Amino acid sequence: MPDHYGLFGHPVHHSWSPFIHGIFARQTGQDMVYRLHDTPPERFRSDVLAFFSSGGHGINVTLPHKRAAADLVNELTPRAQLADAVNTVVRRDEQLIGDNTDGAGLLADLTRNLGLGWESPRVLVLGAGGAARGALEPLFSLRPRLLVIANRTAERAVALAGEFANLGPVSGCEFARLENQRFDLIVNATSASLRGEVPLIPIGVVDAMTTCYDMTYGVGDTAFVAWAKRLGAARAEQGWGMLVEQAAEAFELWRGVRPDTAPVLAALRQRSATPPDTHS
Ligand code: ATR
Repeated sequence: MPDHYGLFGHPVHHSWSPFIHGIFARQTGQDMVYRLHDTPPERFRSDVLAFFSSGGHGINVTLPHKRAAADLVNELTPRAQLADAVNTVVRRDEQLIGDNTDGAGLLADLTRNLGLGWESPRVLVLGAGGAARGALEPLFSLRPRLLVIANRTAERAVALAGEFANLGPVSGCEFARLENQRFDLIVNATSASLRGEVPLIPIGVVDAMTTCYDMTYGVGDTAFVAWAKRLGAARAEQGWGMLVEQAAEAFELWRGVRPDTAPVLAALRQRSATPPDTHS
């Protein structure tokens, strides 16, 4: 009997996770199945509990349930606590442990896959929602000289910066305040790309030394990646690698074995060059 895993979200039909975990399982010889569970918010809690009480081993959680998952589990890992969101749940000794592998996935993609390395970089995070929150601790591990959180609604950026002030030099502001500033790395953690929109930051912020990274991904360039390329950014990348790396981190948590992400990323990049797809 294979062990059961799955993704809970709403919607989930577009997800690449079964493809990714299917390759990981074959690659590492694990006897497991991974299924999609489209669960509206009002059914999330009961559906997840039913999954585990019928013998399920572990789940991933995606939009819009990552916060609700943090409330459902018996215990949170430190990084899930900081992110205030859960994207991976594992059952251990009848306890549900909630983890968050998104930030580790982002960091692995930036440093390992893309080979980016800076001495005390200047880092800009766009957005102040759940995705931005989850990215902050991993970005602090780059030892930034300065980390600026800019958001359409400035108060959210200022509040988020205040919460993470003990980790390093961080400030929050509105987009207009970025005028005449420059950054080594800009991470788009807004949900704007999901609607084909770009955060309205001053265009001078991107120059030939800037790396732009969109946590969203899709077929072809996301709106943010296309915008960054037009402005002549040194590099403009979207979050396929983050997707695969967060999955690898979850897989290791569940199965105790680290899959090789390179062939999966290559396969995804090839597939994503051709429609159809969206996000997650
Ligand atoms: P998530 O959990 O994906 O981060 P969220 O908590 O709803 O989702 O946050 C979405 C983020 O994207 C917010 O920072 C939002 O800005 P506001 O706080 O001002 O709403 C940002 N966002 C969404 N659409 C945007 C757009 N078109 N331009 C700029 N920022 C946008």
